[in-house]
Amino acid sequence: MNTSTEKSDAVTTGYYSRTEISPLKRFRRLRMTETLRSMVRETSLSKKDFIYPLFVVPGTRVRKEVNSMPGVFQLSIDELVRECIEVERLGIPAVILFGIPERKDERGSEAYDENGIVQRSVRAIKKEVKELTVITDVCLCEYTSHGHCGIVRDNEIVNDESVELLAREALTHAMAGADMVAPSDMFDGRVAAIRRSLDEHGFIHLPIMSYAAKYASGFYGPFREAAESAPKFGDRRSHQMDPANSNEALREVEQDILEGADIVMVKPALPYLDVIRRVKDRFQMPTAAYNVSGEYAMIKAAGRNGWIDEQRVMMEALTSIKRAGADLILTYFAKDAAVLVP
Ligand code: PBG
Repeated sequence: MNTSTEKSDAVTTGYYSRTEISPLKRFRRLRMTETLRSMVRETSLSKKDFIYPLFVVPGTRVRKEVNSMPGVFQLSIDELVRECIEVERLGIPAVILFGIPERKDERGSEAYDENGIVQRSVRAIKKEVKELTVITDVCLCEYTSHGHCGIVRDNEIVNDESVELLAREALTHAMAGADMVAPSDMFDGRVAAIRRSLDEHGFIHLPIMSYAAKYASGFYGPFREAAESAPKFGDRRSHQMDPANSNEALREVEQDILEGADIVMVKPALPYLDVIRRVKDRFQMPTAAYNVSGEYAMIKAAGRNGWIDEQRVMMEALTSIKRAGADLILTYFAKDAAVLVP
């Protein structure tokens, strides 16, 4: 037998010879111990990757668990401050605030009231918790009586007029001391309008994290219970993206970057890992992914039923989001996961 043929066989087939069944390449060598596995691990989660969403409601001493989101609470401002102290102690760098107002109206007035629930919350947190980065969600849906993200006229969710209100809302958040604003509405031109309004008032260094590719998703169900923001009629399909599209997501993200977004977000996360990867590869921007309420609820519910190992599935899900290309993960699991990672 010709040895040079044998050698090239080994190179091309990965076996010593065509009749040999023993593989040359054994992937299992590097899987035999936890030390080896950890040495070749490609993706690592850190608590610095997490942004923890919080829901603030009127009143004092309110700590009301959300039915469909075990472990997530609606908090009054006093309780919110306590929660933020805990979050900071756990080493989580940032929270994102969602406000539920005292009163809702057609134009969502409390959203851009300087004494609105989020504005007061930001001031209270900033006074007590020094290191925590406070991000505010900028949208009208929690504040409008009809539950839509903007002004509604003749059954249409009006774009440009709503964008003006969003810019005012973002500005009042900045004036209250927010460290970053995060528009979640998906109207056209809102990042530019917010950037302009912040800059005109001196907030030139306040970053914008835009919900850039946000899909019209069934996975937001539990959030709408937590934020009391379900639309009273119709849906959000005239502004949020069609789940079937991913080229369009790149155009949305590109536009937000052109308008001044500093961090771009894909939302939801797990059903859209392909979109996260495309966005990261194409733009190389700081990229966030929102592991939304429905993703959380499914894992919690199955875990509670003993159908899956909740902690293990949580870590696998968060790792997948990071592996797909997310630098930051907005997640209700932040506190649970923070104690398990460096
Ligand atoms: C809108 C907003 C929503 C979420 C974050 N910001 C809901 C929506 O678009 O209806 C959903 C987050 C989640 O499901 O966890 N202000």
